[in-house]
Amino acid sequence: MAHPIGVFDSGYGGLTVLRSIVEALPQYDYCYLGDNARAPYGTRSFETVYHYTLECVEWLFKQGCPLVILACNTASAKALRSIQQKDLQRLGPEKRVLGVIRPTSEVIGNYTQTQAVGILATNGTVSSGSYPLEISKFFPGVNVHQHACPMWVPLVENGEYGGAGADFFIKKDLGILQEQAPEIDVLLLACTHYPLLEPKIKAHLPAGIRVISQGSIVAESLKDYLHRHPEMEQQLSRGGVKTFYTSDSAEEFDRKASMFFGEAVHSQHIETAS
Ligand code: DGL
Repeated sequence: MAHPIGVFDSGYGGLTVLRSIVEALPQYDYCYLGDNARAPYGTRSFETVYHYTLECVEWLFKQGCPLVILACNTASAKALRSIQQKDLQRLGPEKRVLGVIRPTSEVIGNYTQTQAVGILATNGTVSSGSYPLEISKFFPGVNVHQHACPMWVPLVENGEYGGAGADFFIKKDLGILQEQAPEIDVLLLACTHYPLLEPKIKAHLPAGIRVISQGSIVAESLKDYLHRHPEMEQQLSRGGVKTFYTSDSAEEFDRKASMFFGEAVHSQHIETAS
């Protein structure tokens, strides 16, 4: 049985992270699961996001993944801790689930001169308070200003990230954050769907504000993790095989996924319980 690295997202966004991970670590096998049938997660309750994420993590474990990356900020904010603390013992104490918030928080403070970081994310990630809390552990002097952009994920999921609707909402949301904290010089795209909006975000920002996406940060952190955990690294199968699964239509997934992943994707459909 193959032992790929599992990568999970509510839909397509995690493919932007998988793309960077594969670039950094091409030797391993990967198994991607997008829960497109139940996306977006960003407006759902803690209980629902936890329940959905747990089901998907269990499924990835059953495919032979010893390690699963939650390539979704919302799932990392609302489900990761409970899965690590409550469920791993039962599901397989030797298995691991990692998120995207911690590795990002560990480095984001290095990018700011003004000690003011802006976080753009889903409602769920913002209301969890995970970023201000995590960043304060590594960079106590950095002020974190958050703003939720609930329209951005639907724009991306529906292929409207290059359209005029995207310009409207990006301008509006950036304006709100800049009014709240004009001193921000670093803007973190704390939702794995947002990198597709990066060209438009940059076009609507004044020069001097740096926009950071998470893909390469998460990839570097995973590389470091595997270096520090040879017992996990040795379990992973190597062959560069990538398999893709979606809880919604595989045809639709394949049609859109290449925009996020940068190459053609052939997925298979899986049924989720609810
Ligand atoms: N990609 C997810 C994240 O990073 C959010 C998408 C959603 O709302 O489902 O937060």
